[in-house]
Parts: sequence; C-alpha cells; structure tokens
Amino acid sequence: MRAALSVLLVLALLLATAPVGAETFGVKKKRPRLSEFGNVTLDNQSTANNQAPVVFPHWFHRSRYTCRVCHVDLGFAMRAGATGITEADIRAGFYCGACHNGRTAFAPVGTDPDGNEVKTCDPCHSVGRQVNFKHDFRAFRRSMPPERFGNGIDWIEAEEEGKVKLADYVEGFSVRHAELKTPKDLELAGKEAKMPDIIFSHRKHAIWNGCESCHPDIFPVRTGSVPYSMQEIFDGRWCGVCHDKVAFPNIDCQRCHSKPVY
Ligand code: HEC
Ligand code: HEC
Ligand code: HEC
Ligand code: HEC
Ligand code: HEC
Ligand code: HEC
Repeated sequence: MRAALSVLLVLALLLATAPVGAETFGVKKKRPRLSEFGNVTLDNQSTANNQAPVVFPHWFHRSRYTCRVCHVDLGFAMRAGATGITEADIRAGFYCGACHNGRTAFAPVGTDPDGNEVKTCDPCHSVGRQVNFKHDFRAFRRSMPPERFGNGIDWIEAEEEGKVKLADYVEGFSVRHAELKTPKDLELAGKEAKMPDIIFSHRKHAIWNGCESCHPDIFPVRTGSVPYSMQEIFDGRWCGVCHDKVAFPNIDCQRCHSKPVY
C-alpha cells in the first residue's frame, strides 16, 4: 500500500499533473488567477464602517520591496487579518502609511499642487469598485521571466536578472546592520524513499526574506529539528507559511522536490 502510494506520487511528479499529487493529500482548491495569486483581502474594520474592504496586492509590492521590509521592519503579520490595521494607524504613518504618506506613494488624504485636499480611497478600498489601477498586472507579467504557477512569474529569476530591484529599507523603520553570513544550501531528505529530496537554498531565500522572516518564528536555527510532513505544509505550516500563499504554490512539486532520484 505504501509502495503503491509512492509510485503514484512519483507518477504524479513525472506527469507534472501536480493536482493529482495534491489530491492525494486531500487538498483541492480553486486555483486563483495569476493576477490574484497572493492578494490579501482586509476586512476587520471596513465593512463594519461602511467602507469597501481593502485588497492588498502582493505581486506589485514584492516587485519593489523585499518581504523582510514589510514583515519584519514594518510589522505586518504573515497571516491574513492578523495585523489589525486601522485607518488611524495608516494616517499616523504606520503599516501601509509608512509608504502611503504622499511622498513614497499616494496617501488617503493629500494635497494637490494648488493646495486643495485630495482623497484617494478606492485603490485600497477596491472590493466591488471599478478602479483604474496605475500598475497593470498583464503588462508587468509580460516583461518578466515566466513560470507556470502562482503569479506566472519566476520571481527568483526576475531578481537574479535584475528585472526587479528590491528595496530592503524604509526610512524611519529599517535599521542597517551587518549582514549575517548565509549558510550553505540544505538538503532535506524525506521519509519517502522514492520522493526526490529537497534542495533548500538559504541564499535565494535570504535575498527576499532576510533571516528574521524565518528564524526563529517559523524554523529553529538548527537542522534536523523540524518534523516536516507534506500534509502540514499543505495545511500552511513550515514552508507552507509562504508557499501557496505568496511564494509559488505547493502543487509545483518538482520545484521543491528537485534532487534527482537514482
Ligand atoms: C494605502 C491604502 C489605504 C488608503 C489609501 C485608504 N485606506 Fe482606509 N484602510 C486601509 C486599511 C488596510 C484598513 C484596514 C482594513 C480592514 O481590516 O478592514 C482601512 C480601514 C478603513 C476604515 C475602517 C475603520 C478604521 O478606522 O479602520 C475606514 C472607515 C477607512 N479605512 C476609510 C478610508 C477613507 C475614507 C479613505 C480615503 C480618504 C481611505 N480609507 C484610504 C487602507 C487604506
Ligand atoms: C509592502 C509590504 C509587503 C511586502 C513587500 C510583502 N508583504 Fe506579505 N503581507 C503584507 C500585508 C499587508 C499582509 C496582510 C497582513 C494582514 O492581513 O494582517 C501580508 C500577508 C502575507 C502573508 C499571509 C497571507 C495569507 O493569505 O494568510 C504571507 C504568507 C506573506 N504576506 C508573505 C510574503 C512574502 C513571502 C513576501 C515576499 C515575497 C511578502 N509577503 C511581501 C505586506 C507585504
Ligand atoms: C514599503 C512601502 C509600501 C507599503 C508598506 C505599502 N505600499 Fe502600497 N504601494 C507602494 C508603492 C511605492 C506603490 C506605487 C505607487 C505609485 O506608483 O503611485 C503602491 C501601490 C499600491 C496600490 C496599487 C495602486 C495602483 O494603482 O496600481 C495599492 C492598492 C496599494 N499600494 C495598497 C497598499 C495597502 C492596502 C497597504 C497596506 C496594507 C500598502 N499598500 C502598503 C508602497 C507601499
Ligand atoms: C514548498 C516546497 C514543497 C513543495 C512545493 C512540495 N513539497 Fe513535498 N515536502 C517538502 C518538504 C520540506 C518535505 C519534508 C522533507 C522531505 O520529506 O523530503 C516534503 C515531504 C514530502 C513527502 C514525504 C512524506 C510526507 O508526507 O512528509 C511526500 C510524499 C511529498 N512531500 C509529496 C509532495 C507532492 C506530491 C507535492 C506536489 C503536490 C509536493 N510534495 C510539493 C516540501 C515541498
Ligand atoms: C525561508 C526560510 C529561511 C530563511 C529566510 C533563512 N533560513 Fe536558516 N534555516 C531554514 C530552514 C528550513 C533550516 C533547517 C531547519 C531544519 O530542517 O531543522 C534552517 C537552518 C539554519 C541554520 C542551521 C544550519 C546548519 O547547517 O546547521 C542556520 C545557522 C541558519 N538557518 C541561519 C540562517 C541565516 C543566517 C539566515 C539569513 C542569512 C537564514 N538562516 C535565513 C530556513 C530559513
Ligand atoms: C518566509 C517565506 C518562505 C518560507 C517559510 C519558505 N519559502 Fe521558499 N521561497 C520563498 C520566496 C519568496 C521564494 C521566491 C519565489 C516565489 O516567490 O515564488 C521562494 C523560493 C523557493 C524555491 C525556489 C528556489 C530556486 O532554487 O529556484 C524553493 C525550491 C523553495 N522556496 C523551497 C522552500 C522550502 C523547501 C521551504 C521549507 C523548508 C521554504 N521554501 C520555505 C519564501 C519562503
């Protein structure tokens, strides 16, 4: 039975009909559109206060900033709804307001060159509203190296080729400190002999995440200490904190299980 299961899984990998593998683990979700992958809808306060809920587009923001800046320096939680942002926070210059302050990006309330008050609400409070966004996903995607899943963009390659330039600093929040030495790649070997092992690149992850996005909250700074299981990853733990939500999804089996099996 167990052997049959691994054969099935390997078959799923070879055929690259990834959803078969995912279904084996009882995971069957509607796949979001490329433009919507990574979008987070915020509605702790909006509807209750007669405002349209907010849609935060990761694809656009991650094309300009590292994950680390927002999730470490600015204090956004890596769980939808968990930050508890309020409009007052933003206008006081926190969270979204660290950038949406009328200098780095549009503010909720700003002034035009003639000194008149200008309100900009809809680009953020966009659910159910017709908004002409300044940044078009499709045009952006066409200029990026392609991938099959997620946003349909190979973000690793985009960064390596210099097609996106990531700011890792926000004035007033970030502190420059000496860089920690990046540990070498790790090979995470599985309980399933026929499943290709995982190559985990510390270097590629650190470019986006620094060290503190993962250590110590998601992973202890040790090897061999995490009792990973694929089901837990599908359930949003370990690698699944980011993968499937913002980083490429778990149906892309081979991108993680990449070490050839002999
Ligand atoms: C940069 C993005 C952004 C802009 C611009 C913006 N908001 Fe918000 N606003 C938010 C976020 C994020 C929340 C919290 C969302 C939630 O969880 O419901 C929020 C919450 C609110 C709330 C809920 C109550 C509260 O105090 O938090 C109101 C009301 C609100 N905004 C009004 C406005 C109005 C009016 C404008 C335009 C003048 C505006 N917002 C512009 C991001 C924005
Ligand atoms: C400009 C700021 C910003 C950047 C850059 C950013 N994030 Fe986020 N992220 C957010 C906000 C805001 C939320 C929503 C938090 C909330 O709802 O309380 C969020 C939520 C998340 C979540 C939870 C999503 C869910 O559905 O539960 C994950 C995972 C995440 N981010 C990972 C990443 C990764 C990985 C990167 C880099 C590739 C990244 N973020 C870049 C601001 C950012
Ligand atoms: C680290 C800086 C930073 C943070 C934090 C940030 N943004 Fe942005 N955001 C930007 C920049 C820069 C732009 C581009 C503005 C422009 O081109 O005019 C932008 C653009 C946007 C746009 C797209 C507008 C368009 O027309 O394409 C939305 C929507 C948005 N932000 C929502 C949010 C919300 C909601 C939050 C907080 C939950 C947030 N942002 C936090 C920097 C940030
Ligand atoms: C984000 C990276 C990632 C992706 C994508 C991924 N895996 Fe895994 N997988 C892991 C890690 C980490 C482990 C634990 C170490 C190991 O077993 O090699 C694991 C373990 C496994 C195991 C071993 C048994 C178990 O339950 O722990 C199987 C079988 C497996 N994965 C199947 C799959 C299949 C099928 C897919 C695609 C549908 C997939 N994985 C996609 C990271 C990933
Ligand atoms: C995307 C998540 C992630 C990021 C970002 C990350 N790590 Fe790790 N780190 C891991 C994982 C996963 C392990 C292995 C844990 C396990 O399997 O028990 C690990 C293990 C380690 C270890 C133990 C390695 C060994 O050989 O014993 C050290 C040291 C470490 N990380 C340091 C760092 C430093 C320094 C940075 C920043 C430059 C960093 N990590 C960034 C996920 C991450
Ligand atoms: C803190 C968020 C985070 C966590 C946790 C995380 N990753 Fe990633 N990972 C990313 C981001 C961001 C990328 C860039 C690609 C993308 O966004 O699609 C990436 C890329 C990768 C890549 C592609 C690198 C390459 O060589 O091309 C692999 C493989 C990978 N992750 C495996 C893992 C595994 C295995 C784990 C768990 C041990 C893990 N990741 C945990 C955020 C994360």
